[in-house]
Amino acid sequence: MPAKYDGHPTLMTSQTTHSNFYESDKAVSEYLLFHYGSESDLLYQGIGPKEALNFAQRCGQLHQKFEMRRDRALDLGCAVGGATFAMSESFNEVVGIDFSHALVEAASRLGHLGKMEISISLEGELKRNTEIALPADALPNRAKFLQGDAMDLDEQLGTFDFILMANLVDRLPDPARCLKPMASFLNKGGILAVTSPYTWLTEYTPKENWLGGFAHDGEPVRAADHLRDLLSPQFDFLEEQNLPFLIREHERKNQFSIAHATLWRKR
Ligand SMILES: C[S@@+](CC[C@H](N)C(=O)[O-])C[C@H]1O[C@@H](n2cnc3c(N)ncnc32)[C@H](O)[C@@H]1O
Repeated sequence: MPAKYDGHPTLMTSQTTHSNFYESDKAVSEYLLFHYGSESDLLYQGIGPKEALNFAQRCGQLHQKFEMRRDRALDLGCAVGGATFAMSESFNEVVGIDFSHALVEAASRLGHLGKMEISISLEGELKRNTEIALPADALPNRAKFLQGDAMDLDEQLGTFDFILMANLVDRLPDPARCLKPMASFLNKGGILAVTSPYTWLTEYTPKENWLGGFAHDGEPVRAADHLRDLLSPQFDFLEEQNLPFLIREHERKNQFSIAHATLWRKR
């Protein structure tokens, strides 16, 4: 279903068919809880996969075991900035970019306030309030948030030592268009981390632009293979990891997914 025009002129650019979910209050509160929520708010009576918690922080630490310069980092599709603030512990400057005005605004506000009260879903229309806060080690003065399109980045952003694209590619209308110029935003020796559960949906990505999840001439096409074909001309493959994550919908319902993370060093 095409997105309804909601009065934001910039939403009618390259993503006119993109769902407006990420501008909604529901998305802001779900993502604030996803990135900053406590175990007791996320897991009903402590039941559930604890290894799936703190996904944003784990993404923001993917660079840690590798030798590299740690001056500037970019969090593309940063949502409410959990990974951006995690990276602020290691990098002098971290830029978080997201297409959603509402998510970027919430990230900036949390950076200024340090904590926020949010309303989370219990059951049906019932909600309760809870408080979320920046992790104690975050350095918000090193982080800044910009609204922008990952498929059309401004060269004036400059270059980075680490770029994170966490669970972004399967939410873009044209993931290859985003991935192809990525090397030009990295310094030599810089690292790109791409994570995704590869949940391809025509609501976000027209089928002709899916990186995988279909058969071609009777052969299965997998996104991990397509990613390697797109990135290997300019990058050396470093490693892959499985990253479980959990997004709480309401008190008794969480989405459990396993993102595939691949790390690449620019030659
Ligand atoms: C599945 S969420 C992942 C958010 C975050 N990286 C995480 O791992 O929790 C996808 C994010 O991509 C953002 N997004 C979608 N299209 C985008 C685009 N063209 N440019 C930048 N961000 C985009 C959405 O607003 C949303 O915040």
